[in-house]
Amino acid sequence: RNHGPDEPCPSCQTGPRTTTRIRTASGGRYRSPVDLCIVDHPLVAHKLTTLRDERTDSPTFRRLTEELVTLLAYEATRGVRVAPVTVQTPVGAAEGVKLAPPRPLVVPILRAGLGMLEGMTRLMPTAEVGFVGMVRDEQTLVASTYAERLPDDLSGRQCYVLDPMLATGGTLAEAVRFLVRRGADHITCICLLAAPEGIDRITALLQDLEVPCTLVTAAVDERLDERGYIVPGLGDAGDRLYGVV
Ligand code: URA
Repeated sequence: RNHGPDEPCPSCQTGPRTTTRIRTASGGRYRSPVDLCIVDHPLVAHKLTTLRDERTDSPTFRRLTEELVTLLAYEATRGVRVAPVTVQTPVGAAEGVKLAPPRPLVVPILRAGLGMLEGMTRLMPTAEVGFVGMVRDEQTLVASTYAERLPDDLSGRQCYVLDPMLATGGTLAEAVRFLVRRGADHITCICLLAAPEGIDRITALLQDLEVPCTLVTAAVDERLDERGYIVPGLGDAGDRLYGVV
């Protein structure tokens, strides 16, 4: 459910915060509800608005995508596993934490997810990177896998899937299923933008999975158009990243 900025967050229980977290499924209807996190921050909104603007050129679009992903990744990695360590400062011993093994795995979905990789690894440079290539049939809108480069066994790995546009949800759901078949049991998807239809569909498509899935995005837009584009969206993210017009 949605909650106001002054209420304690029912999902993360860390007290009032501006970021909205929504359980999209309730009452045990889904075994694996998608936990939706819409990052509400003026810098996120500013960068997203410039990305949406059709006058923004490809170099600027690429840079802003990276910056936006770094901001989303800050929220998305809230649950990343850490282990206690002690370090020596110039003055004394300090208790702290470091990322715990096994290394988190970042998985951009080719092609457009590649534009998000730099922004993610800047925040978590020790993460391993795997790749999934998925293509969407423009007529049927059905996604299929054409390439993958991932560890064989993902059990115990925290996986962060990068896909800029959650439109119909078919591609992302197929990628999540792929990771779960390899044993992943902790999956966080990071999208620049999502459509309500995509959120509903991915929740329904993943309902039989035992694995909880978190979706972090900068905004949920109005709807999809007849071609499966997000409205108002930002157009074709791959084309805008890589200069195809
Ligand atoms: N993929 C995109 O790049 N943009 C959309 O609006 C939908 C899917």
